[in-house]
Amino acid sequence: MRQFEESELTDEVIRSLDETSNPRLKLLLQELVRSLHDYVRRTGLTFEEWEKAIDFLTRTGQKCTPSRQEFILLSDVLGISMLVDAVNHRERDGATETTVLGPFYVGEHKPMPHGADISEGLEGERMYVEARVTDLGGRPLGGVPVDVWHADDDGFYDSQKPGYEEKGPSLRARFVTDGDGRLAFRSILPCSYPIPIDGPVGELILATRRHPMRPAHVHFLVAAPGYEPLITHVFIEGDKYLDSDVVFGVKNELVSKIELRDDPQMPDGRAASGPWHLMTYEFRLKPGHGTAPKPMLASAAE
Ligand SMILES: [Fe+2]
Repeated sequence: MRQFEESELTDEVIRSLDETSNPRLKLLLQELVRSLHDYVRRTGLTFEEWEKAIDFLTRTGQKCTPSRQEFILLSDVLGISMLVDAVNHRERDGATETTVLGPFYVGEHKPMPHGADISEGLEGERMYVEARVTDLGGRPLGGVPVDVWHADDDGFYDSQKPGYEEKGPSLRARFVTDGDGRLAFRSILPCSYPIPIDGPVGELILATRRHPMRPAHVHFLVAAPGYEPLITHVFIEGDKYLDSDVVFGVKNELVSKIELRDDPQMPDGRAASGPWHLMTYEFRLKPGHGTAPKPMLASAAE
């Protein structure tokens, strides 16, 4: 019968994974064991704490549904999502900065024509968004699908509201760039919002006396063949939470000045019903490859 001293146990577990046929999986598992064992030793983890951790992770999983992703939220608030982003995007070469996907890329991104209003029937200050997709040399990229999604005037995504699966998407859509790399749409101005705090991640945020707020932003996922998929946000300048985003997702380059306009017409020539905000942004894509994530509930998005 084999019996191990505390110091030998880690080596023995790591050795037990030696025959893993996939070399990358072997590396990931052995390093995980090394880090977790080290954590237990360094903290002198008690049985009670270990049980609490198991219970926390169990409840995190149980909180997940097709439209609620508590594990992504946990990864986000612990800075893991941004660290994975950072180690995978060390060389930007002038390409637009990336940030977290977030837990709300869940629903159908219905293709809509340029100028469409993705906020149909919702209250809020009007906003017109003009964006352009180019390569690193500033040459336009046409025919590129761009998924957009953002929170409403009360700080909620469509997927957080009751009846989402029957009602379908709101404040989320897909636009395809024209020959000049451009896209445009109407919406409402997003506001800063709290991440959901009615689950285990919320308990963690409260126990650590952090605030749960994210600064106002619009999510963009730009997926052009032959280029790295770009997962990013455009943040709104002046938001009070830009310096303390609960998921550590803000990068200076992604903060955009939003202009308040009172022109009677929006840029596409259609009448404005009052003052409106103009958001503009240019996305520069880096050559490469990679697969863009798919929305978790998408049905007819392709
Ligand atoms: Fe968001």
